[in-house]
Amino acid sequence: MKDQRILLIISGGIAAYKSLELIRRLREQGATVRCILTQAATEFVTPLSVAALSAQPVYTEIFSLKDESEMGHIRLSREADLVVVAPATGDILAKMVLGIADDLATATLLATNRPVLVAPAMNVHMWHNPATQRNIAQLQKDGVTIVGPAEGPLADGEFGPGRVVEPPVLVEAIRGKLAGLAADDSSAPLRGARVLVTSGPTHEAIDPVRYIANRSSGKQGHAIAAALARLGAQVTLVAGPTQEPNPPGVQTVAVESASQMLAACQAALPTDIAIFAAAVADWRVAEASGDKIKKGATAPSLHLVENPDILATIATAGPRRPKLVIGFAAETDTLIDNARSKLARKNCDWIVANSVARGAVFGQADNLVHLVTASGVEDWPRLSKEEVAERLARRVTDWMKTSGNKDAG
Ligand code: C5P
Repeated sequence: MKDQRILLIISGGIAAYKSLELIRRLREQGATVRCILTQAATEFVTPLSVAALSAQPVYTEIFSLKDESEMGHIRLSREADLVVVAPATGDILAKMVLGIADDLATATLLATNRPVLVAPAMNVHMWHNPATQRNIAQLQKDGVTIVGPAEGPLADGEFGPGRVVEPPVLVEAIRGKLAGLAADDSSAPLRGARVLVTSGPTHEAIDPVRYIANRSSGKQGHAIAAALARLGAQVTLVAGPTQEPNPPGVQTVAVESASQMLAACQAALPTDIAIFAAAVADWRVAEASGDKIKKGATAPSLHLVENPDILATIATAGPRRPKLVIGFAAETDTLIDNARSKLARKNCDWIVANSVARGAVFGQADNLVHLVTASGVEDWPRLSKEEVAERLARRVTDWMKTSGNKDAG
């Protein structure tokens, strides 16, 4: 289960305490476990114990400004290999069937595009109730995996099915589900394709505390790496300093400067495809000071030298050149002309051009881009950065199908 990401939703039942052990066991196996607690679950286990055991922030409220700014529920629901609801009360199962989204847990379940596994736990009569049985049948039809419940004495003194399955059994079920998902992936359209993606800014040190950088959140590049990985590609993401979490299923190499980014990109070759979404600083200080420069009577002057152009270097790498090289062009004016000349000058195959004229791109959720290739310009509608990433990943898939073994066009 190494490097697998599990989003564990704990709903409010007496069996919630068993989720603490589940978290511990999943982490022992190398999984990362992020948790959402329903309001009722917080009556049975404290967010603090869940946070301590998972070593991750715990999410409880949909209208928490802090949670939404750190991690919106859509992202929370997408950045997992598997969503597990344990224990799953009769109430949360019913809400899942109806698509009710009245708290963070249920909104996340409605928003997710990841596989879901539930471990029901409730009183035996609640379990046998035709409503619950109808719900379970519907969830199975919807593709949800149901594990349990186990039979035995229940917390309320009754006996029968209703106990949540024990943590070791649930861990095995989760492992089996993840293995099945990996096997299914043989149909993934980009399976076997190797892709290099750069993302984020670079920081060029002036001294140990100051640096030169471009504005870049890394949102677009990270979303592209994640979208390609979801289609089965083997992705190396070379990322400058960003707040973005490492995308699941992607090998992320963290770098600071342009020189480090170039070295990491060269080390990642050979790849079939390379996408350069990083906002690399064009210049660095010729000689960064080893000590903090003191404020004096006059401001220091910086001697700048040009950084290597990573895209152009890789795109002219001779036999090691990836077959499809995609660059980005953020321009404030004459967008398409600039993108076209960049296409030729940097020897790349496609350019994703976006206007940054009104500063409405950096750190924002959406993007308005044009895809410039030798055969023309495609104007894409305003899309979220995730949608831009998915669309680009689909275009790469089409390219693989039609011209993967020929020249890019
Ligand atoms: O020349 P400009 O910076 O506008 O080019 C943008 C494209 O070139 C982006 O794809 C960016 O990632 C890449 N680039 C690079 N190394 C640089 C400068 C830009 O890879 N030093």
